[in-house]
Amino acid sequence: VIIYRESPAGIEPRHLAGFFVGWPNPPQPDTHLQVLLHSDAIVLAVDDATGQVVGYITAITDHVLAAYIPHLEVLPNYQGTGIGRALVERMLDKLRDIYMIDLVCDPDVESFYEKIGFRKVGGMCVRNYDRQAGTLPPGLSGNGHQAG
Ligand SMILES: CC(C)(COP(=O)(O)OP(=O)(O)OC[C@H]1O[C@@H](n2cnc3c(N)ncnc32)[C@H](O)[C@@H]1OP(=O)(O)O)[C@@H](O)C(=O)NCCC(=O)NCCS
Repeated sequence: VIIYRESPAGIEPRHLAGFFVGWPNPPQPDTHLQVLLHSDAIVLAVDDATGQVVGYITAITDHVLAAYIPHLEVLPNYQGTGIGRALVERMLDKLRDIYMIDLVCDPDVESFYEKIGFRKVGGMCVRNYDRQAGTLPPGLSGNGHQAG
């Protein structure tokens, strides 16, 4: 059974294995946990049988007009079962008082988002690829995983 949670309470790095599929320099689980702790809103899909996180979505927001969704991922073994849609719908509900909700995606997932009500716009971005594994916030132990 998949349980949806909106808090990182009780989540440990060991519950966050297998994400960032295809990233050349992926964040480690302890860095991933910091992403969850420092986001303004999250929804986690947890496999009740194992306690493992099998999908997650995050948002950052000014709490007035704008929100951005940097991360959505469902583990490969759990894709195609409605978890991705559920994560997005639950996040959109959490952000229902916000005017603009944006994300950036590759063309291969545009139809996934269109089914949930997103529409296509143009976008621009910068990527500091040497920081892809993440830089932990000051004062947090990185266990040597900081990039660079
Ligand atoms: C994209 C992703 C989150 C979808 O999650 P999922 O749990 O497999 O999706 P769901 O099972 O909820 O699918 C919902 C609907 O979208 C469709 N869909 C799923 N993945 C799709 C894709 N890649 N392209 C087009 N449609 C897709 C499903 O067929 C389903 O359609 P239906 O409602 O008509 O049956 C998942 O494939 C994933 O994690 N991919 C890798 C990371 C990624 O690309 N994240 C997005 C970053 S912007």
